[in-house]
Amino acid sequence: MKRNIKDLIRQMTLEEKAGMCSGLDFWHLKGIERLGIPSVMVSDGPHGLRKQDDQADHLGINESIKAVCFPPAVLSACSFDRDLMKEFGDAIGKEAQATDLSVVLGPAVNIKRSPLCGRNFEYYSEDPYLAGETATAFIEGVQSHHVGTSIKHFAANNQEFNRMSCSSNADERTLREIYFPAFETAVKKSQPYTVMCSYNQINGTYASEDPWLLTKVLRDEWGFKGYVMSDWGAVNNRTAGLKAGLELEMPSSGGINDREIVDAVKDGSLEESVLDQAVERLLNIIFEYTDHREEQELNLEADHELAGKIARESMVLLKNDSVLPLKETEKVAFIGEFAKKPRFQGGGSSHINSFRVSNILDEVSGNANITYAKGFPADSDIYDEALAKEALQAAKAADKAVIFAGLPDSFESEGYDRTHMRLPECQNRLIREILAVQPEVIVVLHNGSPVEMPWLADVKGLLEAYLGGQAAGSAIADLLFGKACPCGKLAETIPYKLSDNPSYLFFGDGDKVEYREGIFVGYRYYDAKEMPVAFPFGHGLSYTDFSYSGLKISKSEMTDHDTVTVSVDVTNTGSCEGKEIVQLYISDLTGAVRRPLKELKGYSKVSLKPGETKTVSFPLDYRSLAWYNTQISDWYAASGDYEILIGASSRDIRLSGKIHMTTQKILPLKVHMNSTLGELLADKRTAPCIEGLKNRMGEFFGASADKAKEDGDTAISDAMNNAMVASMPLRNLASFGLCTKDELQALIDELGTGHF
Ligand code: BGC
Repeated sequence: MKRNIKDLIRQMTLEEKAGMCSGLDFWHLKGIERLGIPSVMVSDGPHGLRKQDDQADHLGINESIKAVCFPPAVLSACSFDRDLMKEFGDAIGKEAQATDLSVVLGPAVNIKRSPLCGRNFEYYSEDPYLAGETATAFIEGVQSHHVGTSIKHFAANNQEFNRMSCSSNADERTLREIYFPAFETAVKKSQPYTVMCSYNQINGTYASEDPWLLTKVLRDEWGFKGYVMSDWGAVNNRTAGLKAGLELEMPSSGGINDREIVDAVKDGSLEESVLDQAVERLLNIIFEYTDHREEQELNLEADHELAGKIARESMVLLKNDSVLPLKETEKVAFIGEFAKKPRFQGGGSSHINSFRVSNILDEVSGNANITYAKGFPADSDIYDEALAKEALQAAKAADKAVIFAGLPDSFESEGYDRTHMRLPECQNRLIREILAVQPEVIVVLHNGSPVEMPWLADVKGLLEAYLGGQAAGSAIADLLFGKACPCGKLAETIPYKLSDNPSYLFFGDGDKVEYREGIFVGYRYYDAKEMPVAFPFGHGLSYTDFSYSGLKISKSEMTDHDTVTVSVDVTNTGSCEGKEIVQLYISDLTGAVRRPLKELKGYSKVSLKPGETKTVSFPLDYRSLAWYNTQISDWYAASGDYEILIGASSRDIRLSGKIHMTTQKILPLKVHMNSTLGELLADKRTAPCIEGLKNRMGEFFGASADKAKEDGDTAISDAMNNAMVASMPLRNLASFGLCTKDELQALIDELGTGHF
């Protein structure tokens, strides 16, 4: 429907306009009946709908409508499958239309900085590229039904401890390379209708009132067109927020902050045009939904099936010493209460009221070879002698034992962080005891974030089911019995122990959280430190095998505006049909700046029948090679060589090739008294001018070095001499009497700057 939004705004009173900028209640925006502006509803997800009607709360305490709990982000990201994520989003979009929801509050794309973050189960990955691609596909699916998404929590909300007040303190390069790109990619590629700003501060400024974040970066640089809403209760100063680019405060502030806006306009501290613009942005999105209502029905059965498919395509087979798949004819003991009561989602605002939950015991009820022993409770850490005894007997009497282990609900949730990375002690103990009586042990994990596995070397099989959504039970059954071939891969590294994690010494410490590990998050750190890990990023096994060959790079040279296509042939060399996730990493060989050894810049999931070969290809551009250079406030890929690595995981690189980049971006030249001879020599614009000086300096020191050598003192070598000279600032030329201050100044002017 065509309507003149500016005209509508002209007809509003100041109070009505201010009122539009905050919620009517917990989940609704305000409408204005006389102007035909409807009041629309928003709701959590995003891995299902949490539509609450009465007695709303944002912590998942009160019941919401019966819906389908799809796999939370921790699992769906392991699918590495853009098409599947789009199908997932499409289903959520249809459900939202069927239940009249204008915006689904997600996806959540915060980076998993530490395994301890209580909300990691809601987040996709430790890798910004994977998180961005996954979110983009999901958003495209939801918004294909004109239902908005709210990508959250923008930004740097990587812990739950003091999340409403703490400051995430990170340097700009780290924010731009690690914590922003998932948002950036999604905004640029799929234009989420809304962005939800986070509770926390970033470098001392609340995200909800940061003009750099909400306007300069989000709108001016990335081109965001929708509206920004606050996380629930994230507003600190309403007028400052509005000026910074926060259009909607959620939930309702009972009129208090609306009055603040009205007063600010009246006393001249807020320009009315800022308010008008905010209202225009809100109305655009409200009408985008209400003008495109679809006739949809909630199809819970079909969505339950889809939830199962996503789970099957995402669970990760971490280890398999010829113990899986299970055969129907084998006697198998299922141990652990998670087999009966699977933990399939996390606590807090994303908690879905599932209409049905599948558990593996029901799935295998027709198989008389399977026995079940509770072994330990799913919701607490209590070692029960009688339960353990029964479990040991069952394990002993069977050919194999499958232990369904995991984290109780209380161990991880929105609102607080974990304090350790361990499973309940009762589970670790029982696993050890079972291993003593039964060597054929498989562990299935139900957890929202990695756990330490002290028994890892001794179990023969390990399936990371994460939190699998309401159909997790059937997905696990299909994977264990080989009705489906595992094809998920890890979206995060599983370290051996918590203290290996790069943020270990700085995580959740006080109100100012220093991101001292910088860009070295996840595999970027473990690789740089050459550290062994339990399972690397991108790892995941299959019941078949794949070989890689025929790497082709469409160009061997590229410049800033080129795109390059990398292709590779993948063959299924095993005996069953399966899917492989092929990963492309870039390694910067230019040495221009310290960078991770490799970074994910492409992936593709391909389905292959036994013996079949397919070619997968990846587009690369300048940005795929670039890092964020704060000197130019832009992405920069230095001229030189870059390695293209094709792998089955971040630590299983199968093929590699090179590409040469020649950039046209010229870095600004700043020469001053304290520029070192080394840095001036490294820049080809200043090198010729400096060469002679360096030699003079070298001779100056060389004389004493020669003298030392004559005296038999070998402490000063030529290499040392060169290194010393390279780190000398220009001012030393004058202080060592090699030139006058005037000559030095003339030299600096000649080198072309004047910044002192
Ligand atoms: C959470 C958001 C959620 C909102 C509404 C907040 O506490 O941080 O992710 O969308 O509540 O429930």
